[in-house]
Amino acid sequence: MAPILLHNRRPPSDGILGHLPSFMRDPLGFLTFCARSNCGVLSLRMLHKQVFLLLEPEDIERVLVTEHRDFIKAGWLRTPAVRRLLGDGLVTSEGDAWRLQRHSCQPAFQMRRMDRYGEQISEVVQRKLANWEPNDPINLQQEMSRLTMEIVGRVLFAVDDSSWTLEASRAMDILMSRFSSGWNLFGMIPWPPGYQERMATRALNRNVDNIIHTHEISQNAQFEDADDGDLLSMFKSSVDVSSGTSHQHVLREQVKTFLAAGYESSALTLTWVFLLLSQHPDINSKLTRELETVLSGRAPTASDIPLLPYTQAVIQETLRLYPPLWMTGRESAKKCVVGGVAIPAGSIVMTSQWAVHRMAKYFPCPNDFLPERWLTGETKNLPRCAYFPFGAGPRICIAQSFAMMETTLLLASIAQSFRVECDNSDAITPCATMTLRPPIGIKVILRAQEKINY
Ligand code: HEM
Repeated sequence: MAPILLHNRRPPSDGILGHLPSFMRDPLGFLTFCARSNCGVLSLRMLHKQVFLLLEPEDIERVLVTEHRDFIKAGWLRTPAVRRLLGDGLVTSEGDAWRLQRHSCQPAFQMRRMDRYGEQISEVVQRKLANWEPNDPINLQQEMSRLTMEIVGRVLFAVDDSSWTLEASRAMDILMSRFSSGWNLFGMIPWPPGYQERMATRALNRNVDNIIHTHEISQNAQFEDADDGDLLSMFKSSVDVSSGTSHQHVLREQVKTFLAAGYESSALTLTWVFLLLSQHPDINSKLTRELETVLSGRAPTASDIPLLPYTQAVIQETLRLYPPLWMTGRESAKKCVVGGVAIPAGSIVMTSQWAVHRMAKYFPCPNDFLPERWLTGETKNLPRCAYFPFGAGPRICIAQSFAMMETTLLLASIAQSFRVECDNSDAITPCATMTLRPPIGIKVILRAQEKINY
């Protein structure tokens, strides 16, 4: 990578394109390089866009939490290509429209619902486990994606069927592939969707419409209290029929948002967990020891989670090393100063979970997989935004507790029976697309988990 000179916090640009080519060639390498600069705020230029990269937790906290009103979601997160993938819903909305939607979905993620969600998650994963045999080769990421998609369908939209998940996850992969190049992470080139993307959008919409239709048929006699219904029932009761937009369209966009946001990050977390465990047999042994001691072979429930600290630490450490959302972007709504640097209105202000989570001053031996660090008190006094896999502030992941519960239960359920063997897991490098993915199509072998001899 071309060196970035950090003179006066304004590195010289790489010709007319600015820092975009270096970023595009290797986004994670670029961010790691910037993080080593010891500069809190770096001033960069990507084509004609001024970009400020924040690397100090207290500056990140100002932008995401304390002064969030001055920073809206960056425009590149709201382009038509992003909306085709993530829908025109909670993730891509701003202002009053966002506030209304957040308020109407919040009840679906209250803690009191977690036990019921845990039971549903358990049913889905036990069904999956019944179809796997030791020594089966599987496409790890695809299996995790179908599993977490089925869970979103079951828990949030009351669809008890998995047949749609293959087509829907393939469609999502095609729509996501547009973001596989650094050029398009910033939505710089708004080229129209090609044939494959148009077909994928149709397939995704068809599956989402089927979810809504199935939900209508099986409609909810079991929930008397509207506040107890699933998320789709909440959407239905909150859709503003006077807004002029078709009811079906609004519902479709909201369902699409939760489908996309709800499966990908959890599936990636589990994919990285199993790849890391395949590289670290000692950690796999500690994990299985805890699972055997606490569960003795029975299926875990949500109430077991506090008894599984090591399992939770494995998830936390994976989210540190491989945060599915590795970069967070905002746009300054007005002129301001952050970390002593003047930021003009309309600039991109970005930060990166990938870069901050790997800073040695917060996480000693930052590139090592050390779940213990979450159990020894080492991470207790971290600044608020030194570890933020779920974001921070009002736009923090609405499903943070749900996602932690889901990934812990899935790991506990699967790891009791299977470990993953992956021949070249050491050589797997993450691809920084819109999310942090392993290279497409990694094949692994499921091996029976060895029993621990006490
Ligand atoms: C390990 C799993 C997950 C991770 C790491 C994760 C991470 C994040 C992050 C970092 C954000 C904030 C983005 C920003 O500030 O721009 C976010 C937002 C969001 N997440 Fe998650 N997420 C996960 C799972 C889920 C699940 C399971 C769901 C749904 C069931 C979900 C739904 C959402 C939604 C709807 C938003 C937008 C919230 C808003 O803007 O108000 N996420 N997530």
